[in-house]
Formats: sequence, C-alpha cells, structure tokens
Amino acid sequence: MTHRRFDEHVVRHRLAARLDRAVATLPESPAGPVYVVDLDAFDRNAADLVRRAGGKPVRLATKSVRVPALARRALDRPGFAGVLAYNLREALWLAEHEELADVLVGYPSVDRPALARLAGDETLAQRVALMVDDVEHLRLVDSVRPAGGPPVRVVIDVDAGFRAGPAHLGPRRSPLRTAADVVRLVDEVSRCPGFDLVGVMTYEGQVAGVPDVAPGNPARSAAVRRMKSASLHDLRRRRAEIATALQDRGGVALWNAGGSGSLEVSAAAPEVTEVTAGSGLLVPHLFDHYRSFVPRPAAWFGLPVVRRPGPGLVTVAGGGLIASGPAGRDRAPLPWAPPGLALTAMEGAGEVQTPLHGPGVDLLGIGDVVWFRHAKAGEPAEHTAVVHLVSGERVVESVPTYRGLGLTW
Ligand SMILES: Cc1ncc(COP(=O)(O)O)c(C=O)c1O
Repeated sequence: MTHRRFDEHVVRHRLAARLDRAVATLPESPAGPVYVVDLDAFDRNAADLVRRAGGKPVRLATKSVRVPALARRALDRPGFAGVLAYNLREALWLAEHEELADVLVGYPSVDRPALARLAGDETLAQRVALMVDDVEHLRLVDSVRPAGGPPVRVVIDVDAGFRAGPAHLGPRRSPLRTAADVVRLVDEVSRCPGFDLVGVMTYEGQVAGVPDVAPGNPARSAAVRRMKSASLHDLRRRRAEIATALQDRGGVALWNAGGSGSLEVSAAAPEVTEVTAGSGLLVPHLFDHYRSFVPRPAAWFGLPVVRRPGPGLVTVAGGGLIASGPAGRDRAPLPWAPPGLALTAMEGAGEVQTPLHGPGVDLLGIGDVVWFRHAKAGEPAEHTAVVHLVSGERVVESVPTYRGLGLTW
C-alpha cells in the first residue's frame, strides 16, 4: 500500500470511530439511515466557497442542502447572500417562515396556486423572484394575478450550454441562447405591466457539474478539460454580446452564474454579479474530482450491519439511496468509513439491504455502522427526518430536514 493510501485508510478508520462515538450518545437510535453532518468541515467548505468566489456574493442553492438550519448557518456567514430555491412553494416557505428577503427560484414554476399567492402578497413579491424563459411563464402569472397585486420580479434564464456540432453539452433548460433571444423576452417583460426584470442567469452546468478528472481514464479527463475550456471561451463571447444588448435597454442589476464546480471561473466573468453554490458545502462523492478544490466531505449516512452472509461479506440495512441523473454506477452511494468496503456488482445499493465486500468486512460485526457518502448533496435529506450536526466527537444538535418538517416540494 502506498503512503497516500495508507494515510487515507487511517483517516477513514478515525472518521468511522469518531462518528460512531458521536452517535452513540443519541437518546434513541433512528429507524432509517443516520444522517450526520460535520459542522467543522461544513464551515471550512463554506469559507472555501467564499474564497473561490473572489469577492462576489455566493447565493446558496437550497436543493443541495434541504435542511433549514444548515442553510441558515451558511447564510449567516459573510460572503453568502440570498438563496436559489428549487421550488416556488419552497421559496414562499423560506420567505414566510425563515423570513429570507432574497429568494430566487432557480427554475420556472407552473404551480398556479403558488403563483397566485406570490402575486397577491406584497411581502412575498418583494422577497421572491421567479425564473422565466418563455412568454408563457408571464402569461401564467397574469392568469392568476389578483387585481391591484404587487409587481412580480423575474429573472431570465439563458442557456449557457455548449454546442459542438449537433451535440448540446450542458443542461437542457432555457431555449434562449443569443442576445436577440434574450432581448425579445426582455422586451416582452417591459411591455407587460406588473413585472420587474431583476436580472439574468447563465448556469454553465457542463463546467460546474462535470468533474475535471475521470479516475483511471486520462483520455476522458483530457476531453472534459478541452470541452470546458472551449465552452468557457464560447460563454465569454455570448455573455459579452448579451450584456451589450441588455445595456442598451438599461442593464440589469443581477447576473447569476456558476455552481460549486465552477465558482472561480464563473465569478471571474465581468458581467456576473453573483455565483451560486450548494454542493460544495457537503461535498458528496460526485464532487471528488475537480481540479479547482480539494474535496472535504462533510456529510455521511450510517447503516448498521445486520448479517454476515458468508466469508468476505457483510450486509447492512437499507442502502439504496441512488442519486438522480443519468443512471449509472456513479449515482450509487459510496461505502466510505471504515475503509476497504465496496458494493457488490450483483446487488449494488439495495432496496432494504445492501451486501458489502472487500478487506474491510473482516473488522465488522453485526450492529456496527458503515458510513456512506451520497453521490449528491441534497438528496440524503429526502430519506431522513433529522440531521445530526457533529463537532469533533459530539452531536451538538439534531435538526429537521425539509422532510422532517413535513415539507415535500
Ligand atoms: C441553476 C443552478 N445553479 C447552480 C447550481 C449549482 O449547484 P451546486 O453548487 O449544488 O452544484 C445548479 C445545480 O444544479 C443549478 O441548477
């Protein structure tokens, strides 16, 4: 074993021992996965995101946390400002119950009752901005708007994907790509009474959400880096054209871009006024292979060993917390601590039980806990009601997830 791998082994053994000790003090053992967030790692990750944003404010992507207490913890730090919500009802809840004053819904909504609430309430309309990319989104608001309601604030989503020949790399979201496309909707917004244009968003998912390094595959890693560099070049040009066109119409106050994987390059763009990040706080395993930051995992879920099916195998309860996205092995949770454990090819992460193999199983007995990392940051919170916040070897607080509060958006 190399020195590096040996050190990594020691770190993971220590982590398992530390998390085991922390949760041993919990008054009652939970029924499902034991979801734990290390506050020291969380805070260091938050500081790192702010540093990487180079002085531009970081808007918190709530989908990548889904725990109000953790969202508040990040927002209380200098350098974070505002949230990018993932659902309009969530945004209204955050504005009402958490009294957040700057909530941008990151994705269009066709939720009529929620749109009607927003458009009929002065405070909510001041605090929450909608994402739009189609005149239909404006019409929908108009169809539910009560007479005399406050203006509804909107941000225009611009497709920041990369086109290489017929291929489109990046999220398929907004149909608006060119300055002419954007200006057409800007003009619609200014023609429609009852809307205020706040800004634009260019989320370059093919840069922010694709790891730079594909382990064991140098050719793929090189291709990804070439794609990212070409994409950033294309974006620089398109952003400048869009900014010039917007300037002719008075400019916009807000230009949002980026994600945890792209903060420094997104923030460096002169047009961009703020960047978004969420996953970089908890660092799920899909964020392990970026060149721009050293991954510091801050979240794990623990599953108990319930049986030993044979030599070289243990089986834990539960396990199938598979991440969204293109279904593949990288979406499965990663057995992390203690080290030396892997999912089996036959069963993967199971529905109610998950067998594990590898050298690490010899040290595990029935009742021991295996700590997993999820592939994505926010999704473990959909499987748990509570998150145990750990500092050192202590659970300092146990706080509800959205789901624990009965909030499913
Ligand atoms: C619009 C938008 N901005 C930013 C992000 C980045 O979030 P994160 O930092 O959690 O990767 C996402 C993630 O999907 C997104 O959809």
